[in-house]
Amino acid sequence: MTNQEAKARITALSAELNEHNYKYYVLSEPSISDFQFDKKLEELIALEAEFPEFLSSESPSQRVGGTITKEFPTVKHQYPMLSLGNSYSKEEMQEFMARITKALEREVEYVCELKFDGVAIGIRYVDGRMTQAITRGDGVQGDDITANIRTIRSLPLQANGSGYPKEFEVRGEVYFPRDKFEQLNRDREEIGEPLYANPRNTASGTLKSQDSAVVASRGLDCFLYATMAAERIADTHYGSLMQLKEWGFKVSEHMRLCKTPEEVFAFLEKWDTERFKLGFDIDGVVIKVNSLDDQDELGFTAKSPRWAIAYKFASEQALTRLNEVTYQVGRTGAITPVANLEPVLLAGTTVKRASLHNADQIAKLDLHLGDMVQVEKGGEIIPKIVGVDLKQRKANAEPVKYIQTCPECSTELVRNEDEAKHFCPNELGCPPQVKGKMEHFISRKAMNVDGLGAETVQQFYDAGLLENVADLYELTYEQIIALERMADLSTRNILAGLEASKQVPFPRVLFGIGIRFVGETVAKKLAKHFKNIDALMIASQEKLVAVDEIGERIAESVLQFFADERNQRIIQRLKQHGLKLEVTESIELTSNKLEGKSFVVSGVFSQFSRDEIKAAVEQHGGKNVSSISKKTDYVLAGDKMGPSKLQKAEELGVPIISEEDFLVMIAG
Ligand code: IVH
Repeated sequence: MTNQEAKARITALSAELNEHNYKYYVLSEPSISDFQFDKKLEELIALEAEFPEFLSSESPSQRVGGTITKEFPTVKHQYPMLSLGNSYSKEEMQEFMARITKALEREVEYVCELKFDGVAIGIRYVDGRMTQAITRGDGVQGDDITANIRTIRSLPLQANGSGYPKEFEVRGEVYFPRDKFEQLNRDREEIGEPLYANPRNTASGTLKSQDSAVVASRGLDCFLYATMAAERIADTHYGSLMQLKEWGFKVSEHMRLCKTPEEVFAFLEKWDTERFKLGFDIDGVVIKVNSLDDQDELGFTAKSPRWAIAYKFASEQALTRLNEVTYQVGRTGAITPVANLEPVLLAGTTVKRASLHNADQIAKLDLHLGDMVQVEKGGEIIPKIVGVDLKQRKANAEPVKYIQTCPECSTELVRNEDEAKHFCPNELGCPPQVKGKMEHFISRKAMNVDGLGAETVQQFYDAGLLENVADLYELTYEQIIALERMADLSTRNILAGLEASKQVPFPRVLFGIGIRFVGETVAKKLAKHFKNIDALMIASQEKLVAVDEIGERIAESVLQFFADERNQRIIQRLKQHGLKLEVTESIELTSNKLEGKSFVVSGVFSQFSRDEIKAAVEQHGGKNVSSISKKTDYVLAGDKMGPSKLQKAEELGVPIISEEDFLVMIAG
């Protein structure tokens, strides 16, 4: 392909992909399949790698993130980001509109919009290109989070059409779509990570992530609701939003031009009840004077515009009876009290249970059995009890007494001084903890045992085949096939999966054995520092806290874990079964052996995760590229590599090497 041809193809592909992004993320009307989209994107990425001179920062290939920001610079807003006055009742809304009629001496039109519950953002465009995105901050200055905002696919990196001012800013709200949020929590549940409480805080936390690839993976979205520039783009607010829409920005379809106060009230009422049908959270509606001349005339107070107001919905509450308090035991032994309620309709769903968090919460509410309790569903997914109707309490009602022993194994509960929750210390004997530990051990980010899922582990446990993770490696064909729903193939798959998991690298094994507070990152740090489990097992408190980012709490937990003889025995058995309990030296070393060489890594590897093997390429001076071109030096192929990649490598004559070949290469 000549330079000229490549340039033309890159331009055409970019335009096509932008169009599909727009159809998918802004209009929700995709016209090609995800597969077709990915193919085109792959082609674009390959071309850009081959002809980097034609890679533009607005290219659709730039949405995947990857930029690491250590600290977000603070920048001043060109136009201050004000907030809105709030109102909580129809009377206050009436007064707001009456004030405006009085000031302007005539009735005016209003635009009613949803009040999105997310994070405010101001995004600057110069010559139609996104140049900077700043959080609200204190209204005068905020954080520059441009790299993270650029990953939001509904936001144009380059505005559509023409006629936009040379410089303009759009304002909007970044939010976490509810389905994406729920998926994220399901993924976290699978690996035993604590769940996020609500979409808004999680959106806010995500936007502050230092790694824009994390932001890209989360699926945030953004509605725009205002624009500012030196010159107006329309005479009315409604006209401005229509104009923004034409330039490719995502403006909510749920906004109305209202000509009378009655129409405004109808809008409020509609969304007070229908808000739960939306795929995202709103916490009210916003009413704005439509004419921009009128807005100018009304002006601002010190904090907010006089031409707009927010109407906040009351949190939905319901009164119902508390029947019983039960207690759940988590994987780590943490106890969560749960209120069992007389079923009641709240915010569109029937609520039967509410979280009580911990003993203090029960004491604070002074809960008695049979109490009539006020249940509220705010931004949180799980409803909470916010109060008790004391007038309805019976004279002989029993106070809720927090349990002293574990509901699952009767061990006496413990509460550490600085922790809010009680926990069951019987780590190795308490059924939900034992099962939870095993589920965690086999999960994707730990041992990733093919063919084995949580349900099967439960089944093994219930059949008395498992007591701890080392037992997994002593399961026999006969034991498994004897169980219900087990066939020859599934049995062999499970055994093969367990066998293959013996190649999982040390940091993931360490994460998998489930030491309290040792998550993925901590496990990597410990493995890197101590190199093998024996050194870690005898490490003193001082040695542990000397490791970068390991604090006393983690050190204490590691010491406690290895001090237990039962854990020591489990580790010995894992060692005998051949699990990797030391770092593979060759991968730890760095060298220049791969300097100038480019690799396409594809498929599933036995000793490393794909990210680990890619990191190894870089540690040895090589470069990772995502698509195969004739400039690629090697294709590093694992299992299950796609046939199209294989074919392409063969066509272009790029050598295909295995994991073992690679290890030999870097070991020299
Ligand atoms: S207009 C001058 N419209 O609510 C203020 N704000 O306190 C212009 N919000 O931080 C704001 N949805 O992030 C406006 N449709 C909407 C909105 C909205 C959510 C947020 C915004 C701001 C807060 C107002």
